[in-house]
Amino acid sequence: MTRTSGPVGVGIIGAGVIAAQYLDQLTTYPDIEVRAIGDLRPEAAATRAEEYGVPRHGPVDVVLEDPEIEIVVNLTIPAAHYAVSRSILDVGKHVWTEKPLVTTRADASSLLDAAREQGLRIGGAPDTVLGAGVQTALRALRGGEIGEPRSALAQFRSPGPESWHPNPDFLFQLGAGPLYDMGPYYLNSLVLAYGPVASVSAVGSRSVTTRTIGSGPRAGQTFEVEVPTRVQGLLRFDDGTSAAVEFSFDDALGQPHVLELSGATGTLALPDPNQFAGETSIAARGEEVWTEREPVGAVGGRGLGTLEMARALRAGRPHRLTGDLAGHVLDIMISLDEATRADGSVPVASTVTAPELLPEDFDPLTATL
Ligand SMILES: NC(=O)c1ccc[n+]([C@@H]2O[C@H](COP(=O)([O-])OP(=O)(O)OC[C@H]3O[C@@H](n4cnc5c(N)ncnc54)[C@H](O)[C@@H]3O)[C@@H](O)[C@H]2O)c1
Repeated sequence: MTRTSGPVGVGIIGAGVIAAQYLDQLTTYPDIEVRAIGDLRPEAAATRAEEYGVPRHGPVDVVLEDPEIEIVVNLTIPAAHYAVSRSILDVGKHVWTEKPLVTTRADASSLLDAAREQGLRIGGAPDTVLGAGVQTALRALRGGEIGEPRSALAQFRSPGPESWHPNPDFLFQLGAGPLYDMGPYYLNSLVLAYGPVASVSAVGSRSVTTRTIGSGPRAGQTFEVEVPTRVQGLLRFDDGTSAAVEFSFDDALGQPHVLELSGATGTLALPDPNQFAGETSIAARGEEVWTEREPVGAVGGRGLGTLEMARALRAGRPHRLTGDLAGHVLDIMISLDEATRADGSVPVASTVTAPELLPEDFDPLTATL
């Protein structure tokens, strides 16, 4: 039976690095009750549960078997996303998943179909695009401040995460690399800005075939690099606009992010789409200055999308960051990946409707239910 009031019961599967950021937020939202955390490694779940005062922890079943949990947050590694999300749907619970949705188009279809058949929701990261930073820029775009949209430029360039992540192997395997790991922040923002993508072309490269872990108990160990570590692509959107994108773990130094939208009368430079805040810069053609725009909107961190989905669930309305959106962004990324091998353009079969903007006064810390 669908509940209509009270906080939404949430469970977490995956107690690794990013679970801490989610728990930082989810445990402070009055509309969410974090009831349990499970992991293949129950000791990792126990550590996080203790840090954040989560009442139950253990293997994954601790989460799946709790009848009061309505949404399960999947924070496992990409290769496990499909099986874990499927097991959540199979026990009749809604899914919020970290990116990417899954790693293949077949798994995406199967997961989204299963959710539809069972009347369950899937929501997908990144939820940074609901933060005040990106939302302020999108409001300016939709308000006509750069005129008719024409094109975009997106660049994420870094040396790669193996220096700071204690278990970085998965970030260089199927479902990761800079395209699948960092691409979602930029590609989600671009789809929210310009709508669905119709076709792509791309080239990719890999600077080295092994890397060395730089921190944690495994520091000094080497591992194989299985995916391209630089992808440079072109996107053509359904509405005729275009974008040039570049995602790299191959740069000597971390470079400032670039995410710019250009229209007939001006350009918007967005804040880092991997953050929830940050200023937007706006330049009008003919005036050779940037004007800064302070972010207005939801404060918070990872977990905001889960909260937005929880509130939508109670209200019986659609949530914004749907599985279909995550599936379309996955489809774009797989198409870019395929294009790196074909060195040609690959059509994207799926389409999607961009969600409504989040209201400026969306306050995670207010009890509304
Ligand atoms: N680390 C980051 O900065 C970051 C940022 C944003 C998003 N993410 C995303 O979050 C997800 C997790 O990343 P992470 O850095 O926390 O990884 P991690 O390796 O630190 O943690 C993953 C956890 O999932 C558990 N796990 C793996 N397979 C499982 C399974 N089948 N069932 C139950 N538990 C399982 C592991 O034991 C581990 O505790 C990834 O999808 C990643 O893309 C990570």
